[in-house]
This record gives sequence, C-alpha cells and structure tokens, in this order.
Amino acid sequence: MKYIIFNWKSYLNISESMNLSKVVSKLPSTKKYKLISSPNNFYNLTLKSRYPKNIYAAQNVDLHGKGASTGSIDIQDLVSNKIKFCILGHSEVRSNFGETDLIIQKKTDLCLHNKITPIVCIGEPVDIYKSKKTKNYLKKQINKIFKKSNIYNEVILAYEPLWSIGTGLTPKMSEINDILQFLTKILKNYSFKKIKILYGGSVNLSNIKEILSLQKLDGVLVGSASTKPSFIKYFK
Ligand code: PGA
Repeated sequence: MKYIIFNWKSYLNISESMNLSKVVSKLPSTKKYKLISSPNNFYNLTLKSRYPKNIYAAQNVDLHGKGASTGSIDIQDLVSNKIKFCILGHSEVRSNFGETDLIIQKKTDLCLHNKITPIVCIGEPVDIYKSKKTKNYLKKQINKIFKKSNIYNEVILAYEPLWSIGTGLTPKMSEINDILQFLTKILKNYSFKKIKILYGGSVNLSNIKEILSLQKLDGVLVGSASTKPSFIKYFK
C-alpha cells in the first residue's frame, strides 16, 4: 500500500476543495493506495463532515491548545473531528513561520499523544545538495526531531528536498533510492512501531509512475499537481 498525500496548501478556496474532495470520494477503494487529502486548515472540518469517508490531514497544528490562544489550531479539534493525520515541519511552515526542529519535535510528540499520525517533513536546501552534504543534514534534522528514548507509534517521514518543491526539479531515482536506504538505516537507531518514508517535491502525472516504482518508497507527498482532478483520478 502506497500513501498518497495531496497537499493542497492554500491553492484552493472552499468550493474548489469541495469539488476535489468529491473527486476523491468517488474513487473506488483499493488496497494499492491510501489517499490522504490535506486542504487548507480552515476547510478541514467542513470537508470531513461533508465527506466523512475521505481521509484528511491537517497542514499544521499548534502547541498552544484551547483557551487564550488567538490564531491557534487546537489538536482536540482534529481529534474530535476524526482528522487522523497532520503534516508537520513543511518547508513553507519552517520558512514562513520560523518553525524549528525543536518545535517539530514537540508537535510530533503532541500528535502521537493524541493518536494523530504526524507526517514529518525533512529536506535539504540546494547549497547542501550541491555540496553533497544531504545525508549529514538529514541526519541532524532527524536527531533533533526524534528522541532515542521515545517509543513512537506510527510516524510518516516525508523526504522533500527544498530545491525540488514547486520547481519542477526532482532528484534522480537513484538519488531518491540512496536517501531512502540511508534514512531506513539511521531510523533503526530509534524505536518506531511503524515508520513510512515518502518522497515529495514536484511529483506530477509524468513522473508518478516511476517514483512509485521505487520498492522501498512508501508513497508520495504532492503539492500543486494534486490540485488537479486528472492527477487524483490516476489513483483509481
Ligand atoms: P510540489 O510541492 O509538489 O508542488 O512541489 C510538494 C510539497 O510542498 O509538499
């Protein structure tokens, strides 16, 4: 089973998100793919109540819960509305909101404590890639986000090279495979009951088949291409 995450970011308004959710809801269920839609957080609860069988992920959550916390998204709202996944540490959240690995560590713990599966994003900037220091960079991110003393339930890790997000550029398949092997190896130093590794960054209709053919890859996290019904219908 491959995980396919549709990250609609803030591309769509509510009626466009409704229309895409309808397309998702009409796909026959299959054991091949687990489809998870991540609409703008404003619409998540409305969409979930309109399409209860669809699986949704929040695009982020806050450490500050209910109460005097203006602008926060309380994790209990996800729990009580059966939103069972949450994207954490997306590069756009890191750069736009100054989110650090330490914050992502805390949010990962918060999600797991509330039985929400975190989809934790990591990835190197272009200068690190060019100087061939990607592995070292990813290892440091992982060391900061996960604790060796913890026992983690289900976690999804999304490897998203920053230079690949929204650029149309992707690493070579051999490079993705190499990173997958590396991540699998270093993740053995931690206690995960279940860990899935996805790739994200400029996945689209013309490369999806090849990317999903990577045996060790558990799925993909897709941004702009996933806002098109033709892409979603690929997974029927
Ligand atoms: P992209 O975005 O598919 O538009 O490159 C991927 C992501 O940001 O997760």
